[in-house]
Amino acid sequence: MKQALEKIELAAREELSRIADPAELEALRIRFLGKKGELTAILKQMAGLSAEERPVIGQLANRIRADIEEAVSEKAAQLKAEASERKLKEERIDVTLPGKAPKLGKLHPMDAVMREIEDIFIGMGFDIAEGPEVEYDYYNFEALNLPPDHPARDTQDTFYITDNILLRTQTSSVQIHVMENRKPPIRIISPGRVYRSDAVDATHSPIFHQIEGLVVDKGITMANLVGTLDMLMKRLYGDECRIRLRPHHFPFTEPSAEVDVLCFNCGGKGCSMCKGEGYVELLGAGMVHPKVLANCGIDPEVYSGFAFGLGLERIVMRKYGINDMRLLYENDLRFLEQF
Ligand code: PHE
Repeated sequence: MKQALEKIELAAREELSRIADPAELEALRIRFLGKKGELTAILKQMAGLSAEERPVIGQLANRIRADIEEAVSEKAAQLKAEASERKLKEERIDVTLPGKAPKLGKLHPMDAVMREIEDIFIGMGFDIAEGPEVEYDYYNFEALNLPPDHPARDTQDTFYITDNILLRTQTSSVQIHVMENRKPPIRIISPGRVYRSDAVDATHSPIFHQIEGLVVDKGITMANLVGTLDMLMKRLYGDECRIRLRPHHFPFTEPSAEVDVLCFNCGGKGCSMCKGEGYVELLGAGMVHPKVLANCGIDPEVYSGFAFGLGLERIVMRKYGINDMRLLYENDLRFLEQF
């Protein structure tokens, strides 16, 4: 019997060393250690042993069972470790593969120039103010010294929501909101969308953008206006840039001017871009009309101010040599990718 037990031990160890997967291992465990297993079969024969032999064989059998059990569980642990190692290897991600480069967008030329202008003014101590695009007649016209039936309203026909509420035709309406809510010194610019019932062509659109500027303080003169605009244009277009003021009329400024910049296509000689003028018109400006100050509760005897309104599209078109305004709105990538 002793021999039979040792044979079982030997066989079990040998077979164990060859096993490669958990199912085989389980089959082996049942075959050697199970209720109907080889070891159990031998132990059943112990009844026939003498009293001296029985404890010796019993002890041996127990040791062998314990040894095989231990070897089986060691093997199980080993198989498990191998399996997880294999899995790790198989599922390894090669992070050295080149990734997909994300497509980077960029600013629309209108936004880029808008931000550039904002930066220039912030550098001169201006704040950015905002106002509504849907506006009362009062802010868009009346408070700006354009009473009902004023002939200058004709040049700025717009879209009416009611008799009294309209889509603003100019960012000058923000001047009124700002002066109603703040006391001088005031230094703001106000960029935004404006609307006019114009037909679409190369230089007109019913929706376009303006940047309003307003400065109100004690002792503000035309010289401050010219200096500010000269600085703006030099920063935008380079130090060679010159501006020129022509007398004009706006109901809300007195005196008023239209401001031209030297044509950078021809440098002032006159070409098709400036229609032979040597200068191109960029914006309207002037000293804030005393009535407008008074409408907002600011004493025109104490304070004075200047205002200007520039058309953003025009500035962008001049800056990049774009000859058709519609290109700015069409969102054609072939166009936009050039900036
Ligand atoms: N709001 C005027 C326009 O749209 C421009 C302007 C603004 C003129 C401020 C004078 C002062 O034509």
